[in-house]
Amino acid sequence: MVEEAEGPASERERTPHSFNPDEVNSARVYDYLLGGKDNYETDRQVAGQMLSRVPELKTLVWFARGFVLKAVEMAADAGIRQFLDLGSGIPVSPAVHEVARKIEPSARVVYVDYDPVVVSHCNALLAGPPGVTTLLGDIRSPREILDQLDDQSLIDFDEPVAVLFSGVLHYVMDDERPAEIVAAFRDRLASGSYLAISHGSTDSAPEILQVLTGTVGTSAQVTFRSTAETESFLAGFELFEPGVVPVQQWLRPDLPDTRMVMLGAIGRKP
Ligand SMILES: C[S@@+](CC[C@H](N)C(=O)[O-])C[C@H]1O[C@@H](n2cnc3c(N)ncnc32)[C@H](O)[C@@H]1O
Repeated sequence: MVEEAEGPASERERTPHSFNPDEVNSARVYDYLLGGKDNYETDRQVAGQMLSRVPELKTLVWFARGFVLKAVEMAADAGIRQFLDLGSGIPVSPAVHEVARKIEPSARVVYVDYDPVVVSHCNALLAGPPGVTTLLGDIRSPREILDQLDDQSLIDFDEPVAVLFSGVLHYVMDDERPAEIVAAFRDRLASGSYLAISHGSTDSAPEILQVLTGTVGTSAQVTFRSTAETESFLAGFELFEPGVVPVQQWLRPDLPDTRMVMLGAIGRKP
């Protein structure tokens, strides 16, 4: 079971940032890499440093975005009308709700992020469309998120849901038990629900894995995992082809490999 009352085993902060434009914010750095407008000079400087060491990062984040939007399309095409985007980041168009609502205008979307900066941006950007909601929540406390979803009647767990863990589980350290976090959501899901995961891979080039050691001890600390570890997070789901593969392989067969490998997998709860 995931222990919530005593907090995460890790010493890392749970909510990493206050809303301060002078402070670098990883979600805004990611927004910049995606070509978004919700970032400041400090974020752009850090993004520039990252790009000087890993120039293909800009391409990879777009492959990763393409993967999650493909998962949304697959779920919406299969009749799913509820989407839970965990670790959503700042929505960059085309965002999850835009893609889902193109297929089904009544689709409900809940964006969840533990970063108050992201939630402020989301609230400002999303003011308007009913059925699109943003929650402040830490996936390391899954039951708190599930309680909020129940209490506010945001998701009907008697109906299928598409749950997205896109680029977020690698921020959860092993001692924070990522598999149990995914299982806490899985156990609430109705048959026919979808799970999509993208996750940094230990198959990335050694020089990339070396760069990542610079995140140790910060709120942006990441732990990349193997294909088998990533697949284990989808226990209880039937995997769609092509399985657990670099995200670009979900999009087109001719897209180039990248030295930083991001795995993508989509499953359906039987
Ligand atoms: C790399 S961005 C990915 C954004 C988006 N999901 C995508 O794939 O384009 C990671 C996001 O996860 C959020 N995040 C990291 N750890 C989290 C946690 N424990 N709970 C909730 N959100 C988290 C960060 O604040 C950030 O916005």
